[in-house]
Amino acid sequence: AGCGGDGGSGGSADDGKITMGFSQVGAESGWRTANTKSVQGAAAAAGVTLKFSDAQQKQENQIKAIRSYIQQKVDVIAFSPVVESGWDTVLKEAKNASIPVILTDRAVDSADTSLYKTFLGSDFVEEGRKAGTWLTEEFKDSKDPVNIVELQGTTGSAPANDRKAGFAEVIGADPKFKVIASQTGDFTRAKGKEVMEAFLKANPDIDVLYAHNDDMGLGAIEAIEGAGKVPGKDIKIITIDAVKDGMQALADGKISYIVECSPLLGPQLMDLAAKAVKGESIPARVVTEETTFTQEQAKEALPSRQY
Ligand code: AHR
Repeated sequence: AGCGGDGGSGGSADDGKITMGFSQVGAESGWRTANTKSVQGAAAAAGVTLKFSDAQQKQENQIKAIRSYIQQKVDVIAFSPVVESGWDTVLKEAKNASIPVILTDRAVDSADTSLYKTFLGSDFVEEGRKAGTWLTEEFKDSKDPVNIVELQGTTGSAPANDRKAGFAEVIGADPKFKVIASQTGDFTRAKGKEVMEAFLKANPDIDVLYAHNDDMGLGAIEAIEGAGKVPGKDIKIITIDAVKDGMQALADGKISYIVECSPLLGPQLMDLAAKAVKGESIPARVVTEETTFTQEQAKEALPSRQY
């Protein structure tokens, strides 16, 4: 596989075996670790030879990895773009080499959608809306202003942009909801803690934390406890992902609500890749199915949570 010779698109496998080049964002969160495991496990199960690289949250590393996959004439390239913009050149190079590209987890903002075959992943705007909907319900009887701080994901990433937008859309309908501070915590626990410490120093009266992922929320919990406040009581916390550590904090009453974002994209990715390599048509967008968790639901789900 991977050496072409059949004249077909994407150097389609002569020995029936597919070689996939996969450029991962990094290992910034529990979600990402579960996603990497899912992709590696599914590749092994499907008999796909996986060339895997970790970009350490840097776009330049992803571009380098994709160029190297093109040079190696892999059958298909999949990647989770760290940020949305700046991909056109390298995607054109893949297209010119007739190697199909699949976006997984995160989107790009390229106007030319023929540069990739499909985008498999969550609807991040909807996730933000779900977070906002819980909040408006929770505070529906409150007459007072609700002071919210927001920990954003990686600047310029699809989940940060979309989760912010979906949330703002829902809470924007009622002026009592006020986002008094909003800053990136880069999807990591350490940054989440650091930024929350600064939020707490600057704002004595925080009612709600909306964190774009569990890890930043977990870091923020340490900051809140460090400031002598009780997470989940003094400050309600909404996060996104539903990884095990997040679910544990939800069951323990420290997080108030979690919107699920599923990292288990591996099996669907391998199916789509096999079809793309064969030149079969695939849907342009495949949206992951997801749910939400209250504290009670987290207690029930925890024992069988895989990641
Ligand atoms: O792109 C998905 C996001 O990236 C997850 O919500 C976050 O935890 C991860 O780092």
